[in-house]
Amino acid sequence: MNGVHDYIDAHLPRFREELFEFLRIPSVSARGEHRTDMRAAAEWLYERMREAGLEASIEETPGHPIVLGEWREAGDDAPTVLIYGHYDVQPPEPLELWTSPPFEPTVRDGRIYARGSADDKGQLYMHVKALEAHVRAAGRLPLNVIVLAEGEEEVGSEHLLPFVERHADRLKAAAIVISDSTMFAPGMPTIGASLRGLAYFEIEVEGPAHDLHSGSYGGAVVDPANALARIIASFHDEDGRVAIAGFYDDVAEDREFRDRIRELPFDDEAFREEVGAPALGGEAGYGTLERLWMRPTLDVNGLLSGYTGEGPKTVLPAGAMAKVSCRLVPDQDPKRIREVFEAHVRRIAPEGVKVEVRALHEAEPWKARLEGRLHDAAARALERAFGRPPVHAGEGGSIPIVPAFERLLGAPALLMGFGLPGENAHAPDEWMSLENFEKGTHAAAALLAELG
Ligand code: BES
Ligand code: MN
Ligand code: MN
Repeated sequence: MNGVHDYIDAHLPRFREELFEFLRIPSVSARGEHRTDMRAAAEWLYERMREAGLEASIEETPGHPIVLGEWREAGDDAPTVLIYGHYDVQPPEPLELWTSPPFEPTVRDGRIYARGSADDKGQLYMHVKALEAHVRAAGRLPLNVIVLAEGEEEVGSEHLLPFVERHADRLKAAAIVISDSTMFAPGMPTIGASLRGLAYFEIEVEGPAHDLHSGSYGGAVVDPANALARIIASFHDEDGRVAIAGFYDDVAEDREFRDRIRELPFDDEAFREEVGAPALGGEAGYGTLERLWMRPTLDVNGLLSGYTGEGPKTVLPAGAMAKVSCRLVPDQDPKRIREVFEAHVRRIAPEGVKVEVRALHEAEPWKARLEGRLHDAAARALERAFGRPPVHAGEGGSIPIVPAFERLLGAPALLMGFGLPGENAHAPDEWMSLENFEKGTHAAAALLAELG
């Protein structure tokens, strides 16, 4: 085992250089123009998996390919672990807000700045390097391993679900390990206790056939931007609760989680400073961590209408559009949320405009089982790498495939994340801590040994 950790220490500079290569590939899954970059990232990862001693393959889907790496020489009696991550990244815009370009990884203050450094190429690559360390230093892995890297996580994992359904036998595992989340604080290793689900909508409002002079027509023709504002304003009440009938129907009371959250050290003012908002706000009666981890939300993610260039332009816009996301918690069902959302918009939509709701993606909420063999093995591995036992923290984000993995493979999932608060995932200047890249690789290697 020490040989494995010595190997990691000896080869870290190369691991880092390789990660930089990975980060230079602009694998933006959302954009058609990056199709060949997506393919290049998949092939790059495939090569690294082969070099690490895995049997690698690129699995085609109707969308972006899935990269699999397998090692099954531990035999039928040994357990199998499935390691999941994603090689796609979010679009880097707005480019002008990056200190260094998003696809030119740059080290500043002990951090690797690049799109995908934290979410999720850096975290995924720690596992690939941990596997290489075992294979090269010990000549073998302590158990059977499947690495599954997908290219569509950031766009909702649409083609992964049918792939897992079709290949449930091949992907059979006793444990699912995922590093695609954050630590609660620097130096505080963390096991993820939950993920929120997601129901994402686009609302389109159509008014007149084309833009109109707001003097000649305003007042006699319904303004689509006014109509959309009215719809959006109806989504919350005075207490910051979502005012859609039925929205909270399936929200489960979870006192244990609430108590657990209250044990964590948390400073509202430091959090406020991190996000840079004038004040924090949300649903009345809940603290910040509760709002983030155990309460559902409805937020406008994008808004478009009318003239937004320099100076005035007196125009009544032909249409308006909003992107809206609801984060969900157990036991909310994204399909049921879609029904109540659509019914609400239909009820509020004013006369004189055409309103359409499109559901763009969805994910179920998830809660971890914070006990058992997998959990305890991870706790020991994290303690070995970070010098202290992990805390349990919720996660506000979503990883759509996790509940389906557990259901279809019949195994528990473990979230062992190495991102950090303030890492700017999905935003300009995303970064991954160099220290966490190193310690996370050691933790991933230690976890394999613990599970084997
Ligand atoms: N890694 C994140 C999810 C995440 C964020 C987990 C923070 C834990 C803490 C993932 O890549 C992500 O961004 N997921 C999307 C899913 C969506 C596009 C379907 C999300 O949460 O918005
Ligand atoms: Mn991610
Ligand atoms: Mn993401």
